[in-house]
Amino acid sequence: MSSQPLANDRFLRALRRQPVDRTPVWLMRQAGRYLPEYRATRAQAGSFLQLAKNPELACEVTLQPLRRFPLDAAILFSDILTVPDAMGLGLYFADGEGPKFERPIRSAADIDKLGVPDMETDLRYVMDAVRTIRRELNGSVPLIGFSGSPWTIACYMVEGGGSDNYSKVKSLALNDPAAMHKLLGTVTDAVIAYLKAQHAAGAQALQVFDTWGGVLSPSMYREFSLRYLQRIAAELPRGDGETRAPLILFGKGNDPYLDELAASGAEAVGVDWTIGLGDAARRIGGRTALQGNLDPVTLYASPEAIRREVGRALDDYRDGNGGSREGHVFNLGHGLSPDMSPEHVGALVAAVHELSAR
Ligand code: CP3
Repeated sequence: MSSQPLANDRFLRALRRQPVDRTPVWLMRQAGRYLPEYRATRAQAGSFLQLAKNPELACEVTLQPLRRFPLDAAILFSDILTVPDAMGLGLYFADGEGPKFERPIRSAADIDKLGVPDMETDLRYVMDAVRTIRRELNGSVPLIGFSGSPWTIACYMVEGGGSDNYSKVKSLALNDPAAMHKLLGTVTDAVIAYLKAQHAAGAQALQVFDTWGGVLSPSMYREFSLRYLQRIAAELPRGDGETRAPLILFGKGNDPYLDELAASGAEAVGVDWTIGLGDAARRIGGRTALQGNLDPVTLYASPEAIRREVGRALDDYRDGNGGSREGHVFNLGHGLSPDMSPEHVGALVAAVHELSAR
């Protein structure tokens, strides 16, 4: 399967810092509620979780944005919380609220009971979705698999859902660092097994979402988030460069740590919009590719403003990267929101390709 040549390999080439004809673009949350066809399929499934757990329907919503826009990659439709769900915490979505767990982590004894789920039984529906999507993509564009970072997953496991100040998980880290490291160690084992299994099932690139790393102080970030990202980058199979699925480490608020992230062994670092791409490229210094980083809120502005900001981001990257556009994957700095306009998303994708043509 992995030997099938791709019709469009811009994204994989850019991750390896090889020359491409245009800067590739995909968007975090490119499949989601801003698309009416997504809302229809979700209604057919009954709920978000039933949609994510149905490989045929998960495949359908993965492909929906690609039918509308000439995106250069597909991303598996799933969620970062499938892993703790498979560890027995009981994921659910209360109406109008974010994700929640029936059995959050409350004590060191809860942590001792956790084990690494079996990827082909407990998370079989994810691997079936990856296989189905690869078959349906039929070599058109590469498929991205993903996981949450250990720290970000642990935030939800300990808080029991979203949080304003992460008081429970930060208190655990401060009061009982050994228990916190035990939790992060088990989650990291699960994340590595999960990413390897997605690659084996057909994912051609892998992204780790460290969405909440940026809520930590620098010393806590290095101890409780970075260390585990480094372990993931080190322990995923190296391959010979062409057989390894390139790894993207995305984090919100990760700009103070670009040096360490670029030295981790990952192929690319994903950044949010609070750092200029030129600055980021200078600091990365060609060690990895860079992914990002338009402020998603730009999509509420006019198509003309979107085009101007896309051009600014593309040129900023080029100027910081020694005059070359190579090694850039265009994306937002975080995900699309449900009230964004599909027409504006189309304007963004077109602008990236037009303004970056070599
Ligand atoms: O990018 C994609 O198109 C792939 C699909 C994807 C989803 N979640 C689908 C989803 C990915 C990559 C994620 C990752 C994810 N999930 C993260 C990390 C990235 C980020 O956005 O920060 C986090 C923190 C989660 C946890 C999570 N899942 C939250 C906080 C929510 C509720 C947010 C909301 O918009 O309601 C979810 C649910 C979720 N995951 C939705 C989607 C499309 C919305 C559910 C729905 O259809 O009602």
